[in-house]
Amino acid sequence: MTKVKIVYASITGNDEDIAYVLTEKFEDLGMDVDMSEVSQTDASDFEDTDICVVASYTYDQGVVPEEALDFYDDMQDLDLNGKVYGTCGSGDHFYEDFCRAVDEFSTIFEQVGATKGAEPVRVELDPEQDDIDHLDKFAEELVAKAKEMDD
Ligand SMILES: Cc1cc2nc3c(=O)[nH]c(=O)nc-3n(C[C@H](O)[C@H](O)[C@H](O)COP(=O)(O)O)c2cc1C
Repeated sequence: MTKVKIVYASITGNDEDIAYVLTEKFEDLGMDVDMSEVSQTDASDFEDTDICVVASYTYDQGVVPEEALDFYDDMQDLDLNGKVYGTCGSGDHFYEDFCRAVDEFSTIFEQVGATKGAEPVRVELDPEQDDIDHLDKFAEELVAKAKEMDD
């Protein structure tokens, strides 16, 4: 069974909601899904999965959340060749660097050899129906990419 690991960073719950939406969708698609909060997760968990997903909010001037920094640093030592990745997250257009943490995580995934399975999804605050539709499509694309790489 294809394994999916979803790691989220969330203070006020928006990214946790995003992670739940994705978990449900991946389960509907028949995936074996595991979801965890970033400060409670070892980056090396990504080495034991097929599809790697990060859902993170962005904080002060576009930085990765403080509780995600260790995870972010540890990701740089991974070898994720052969894995599919997707990044997403919630932000607020009030700030100049909208959802920049999403791009920061994409950059790390690229550096450690993972293959992008879908374009990043950026959500304005809490996920509404059109965001949920977008996240569902994101999950479908990640699964399709993992299947393609398995063939
Ligand atoms: C002090 C502060 C700084 C923030 N900086 C940014 C930012 O630079 N870019 C952005 O897109 N959102 C920024 N945000 C908005 C959060 O990313 C947004 O509220 C997000 O939905 C929080 O996600 P969560 O509910 O998962 O914690 C900031 C929020 C606060 C309180």
